[in-house]
Amino acid sequence: MTPLDILIMAAGKGTRMKSRIPKVLQRLAGRPLLHHVLDQAAHLRARSAIVITGHGAMEVEAATAGLAGAAGTFDLKFVRQEPQLGTGHAVQQGVPHLPDDGMVVVLSGDVPLTRPETLRALVEACAGERLALLTVELADPMGYGRIVRGADGAVRGIVEHKDASEAQRSIREVYSGIMAVPARHLKPWLARLTNDNAQGEYYLTDIVAMAVADGLPVVAHRIQDALQVAGVNSPSQLAELERAHQLRQAQALMEQGVRLADPARFDLRDDARTGTRAALVCGQDVEIDVGCIFTGRVELGEGVSIGAHCCIANASIAAGAVIHPYTHIDGEKLGAHVGAGALVGPYARLRPGAQLGREVHIGNFVEVKNSMMADGAKANHLAYLGDASVGERVNYGAGSITANYDGANKHRTVIEADAHIGSNCVLVAPVTIGAGATVGGGSTITKDVPAGALGVARGRQVAIANWQRPAKQAKP
Ligand code: UD1
Ligand code: CA
Repeated sequence: MTPLDILIMAAGKGTRMKSRIPKVLQRLAGRPLLHHVLDQAAHLRARSAIVITGHGAMEVEAATAGLAGAAGTFDLKFVRQEPQLGTGHAVQQGVPHLPDDGMVVVLSGDVPLTRPETLRALVEACAGERLALLTVELADPMGYGRIVRGADGAVRGIVEHKDASEAQRSIREVYSGIMAVPARHLKPWLARLTNDNAQGEYYLTDIVAMAVADGLPVVAHRIQDALQVAGVNSPSQLAELERAHQLRQAQALMEQGVRLADPARFDLRDDARTGTRAALVCGQDVEIDVGCIFTGRVELGEGVSIGAHCCIANASIAAGAVIHPYTHIDGEKLGAHVGAGALVGPYARLRPGAQLGREVHIGNFVEVKNSMMADGAKANHLAYLGDASVGERVNYGAGSITANYDGANKHRTVIEADAHIGSNCVLVAPVTIGAGATVGGGSTITKDVPAGALGVARGRQVAIANWQRPAKQAKP
């Protein structure tokens, strides 16, 4: 098999994004556009990927350098193109890095949704000895390079929109910007490019006529699905491709049996903070209501139900658990776990290191951070558990909190099995509430409560009879 070298053009400015961020680093599903394109190098088992950078080159290179090892085994190189004199000029910059024995696949850093099987078909059409163009028929071909064919139907060349005659502009088959070409042929053609055209640019597309003149076969692999070759030039196009990508992911999940209330209101994204690739792993009979956002790696066990508008990142939720609407679960780097049969939300917040056992109940406005809750423990209303170990069947009352931070250090709170914490308590860590102990409502607990004891720490209630409230004084 002929080795593959991928060349990705990513030097353009992306003026219409109106952003400080280089266009190819704009995110689709939480992942920079360029990284989506580089995934192709891994899918195609390419030998190398050469990224042509220009605008924002330093940022693009910094954001991408670590990727090759993670994505596959290809060799990743960056080459600067300054100034940018056209697509032909861009590819010329890569020439010193393109061995003659390879096939070159030219991609654009702003075209993220090309299917691997489409590129594989293009590579097969090239077969190391033909010029293969990926083309698509568009209802509105405005702006694109047109595929000009001879009377026999064979491709004769590509003419750019701005250089095209009226007759050529009526051609609806356009060049996608993607081609596969043997390096040994590409190099001499690139050397012959001129910028004698309407835009004064070196057009890569001019090599097609050169191939025809040289008698090298030119083949077009024509696809119907315009999304696969759609580029991102504006926020509106980015949003359009985002929705298309999300719909693809939703369809794939539904094919596995996941029941999505509305595939158009589903999002699964990479976690840019931790660099975790998007992965939603679902058991059988998982149901997901509308408007949920999954980030990074999320595992949902058999029969899990996710209510509307939940945000869940880097977490695992075991079989039969129910996550009620508007719940926020973010495991970030530490992860978060919800045990089998647990009930969480609505409006609950699980933060990194939240580890809930089986049948734990977490109710509305309860926040859990870096805390372990053993099987059957409950915190049903308005509470905070931070840096705590909560035993089995503990009932943690409404409005109670762990004061885990003394302004300098964090301390742990231990609540042993079957303890009952009343409402509106402050457990000042480090502190231990023994097994089966009770803490009276409204207590501020600064000392350990022994097992089985009642700990109360609050002013005693007094009743002063016939209490006279202050009366308003007459003005002098
Ligand atoms: C190009 C094709 C056109 C095709 C269209 C598909 C040429 C001459 N024309 O046109 O036939 O229909 O793509 O989208 O190739 N870039 C660089 N350096 C440069 C110029 C461009 O890296 O000097 C990069 C851009 O950042 C972009 C890609 O190359 O990622 C394509 O450039 P663009 O200007 O969008 O090409 P088009 O004029 O749209
Ligand atoms: Ca373009």
